[in-house]
Amino acid sequence: MKSETDQFWNHRAKTEQEIAKVNIADTVQRDHELQFILKNLHPSMRMIEIGCGNGYVSQQLREKVASLDSFDYAENMVERARKAYGETNNRFFHDSVLAPKNAGKDYDTGLCVRVLINLRDLEEQKLAVRNMANMLRPGGRLILIEGFKDGFETLSAARRAIGMPELAPAKINFYSYVRELMPEMLEHFVIEQTWHTGLFDFLTRVVYPQLAGADNAHEPGAFHQQIEPIVRANTLPDLAIYARLHGFALVRK
Ligand SMILES: C[S@@+](CC[C@H](N)C(=O)[O-])C[C@H]1O[C@@H](n2cnc3c(N)ncnc32)[C@H](O)[C@@H]1O
Repeated sequence: MKSETDQFWNHRAKTEQEIAKVNIADTVQRDHELQFILKNLHPSMRMIEIGCGNGYVSQQLREKVASLDSFDYAENMVERARKAYGETNNRFFHDSVLAPKNAGKDYDTGLCVRVLINLRDLEEQKLAVRNMANMLRPGGRLILIEGFKDGFETLSAARRAIGMPELAPAKINFYSYVRELMPEMLEHFVIEQTWHTGLFDFLTRVVYPQLAGADNAHEPGAFHQQIEPIVRANTLPDLAIYARLHGFALVRK
């Protein structure tokens, strides 16, 4: 049974015209994510992409690896991806991370970006982590970038302190705390690298609305482009507490 969130994505594949914005409106955030993803790829890799959306990222990944299998639970996303990009050293297919039937095994690397927040609850998120682990060879790597509740709370506190409304996560998404998902991750993986959007989120969710007015700061705009070099050049680990998204390079045990 498809959830409302599943239906949202299937619908969006048909309705958002701009190819770069089908799976995220904020292209600066996406480029920031890609920085972490691409540095972890190698031309010899056999790769699987979990929740590939309309294939916008897939077409960049396939140029960096030997082969790429990409799947999504939204049929319309898979169809749009195939139509837009075709299949070269890659294929697009329909599958669910909750009950994979068509995904292969023993991949060198897997990628999953902002997919778990679209599942129903923590139990489904844990199942997804387990299923992704089973797609990889021992020593293979999962690059996981996911939204968590922690950063929303910290950003909301920073906003409250200056009289700004709290930051509300999108209604279609389910967020867990990092500490809730971590035991399942550590059951199957060793954490090799971490990444976060703390600096980006503090600038776009606290500084930008303070400059532009909270009511005028819902959409990404020129401010996001202007801060892109700052975010690209600085990691600032202390700002991880403000991160809506955390990234992990996880090595399969
Ligand atoms: C926010 S989009 C991210 C897409 C892509 N990873 C990206 O970075 O552009 C989330 C995607 O996850 C897909 N998705 C949701 N539940 C899924 C599931 N159970 N199995 C596979 N994909 C799923 C949605 O259909 C949607 O295309």
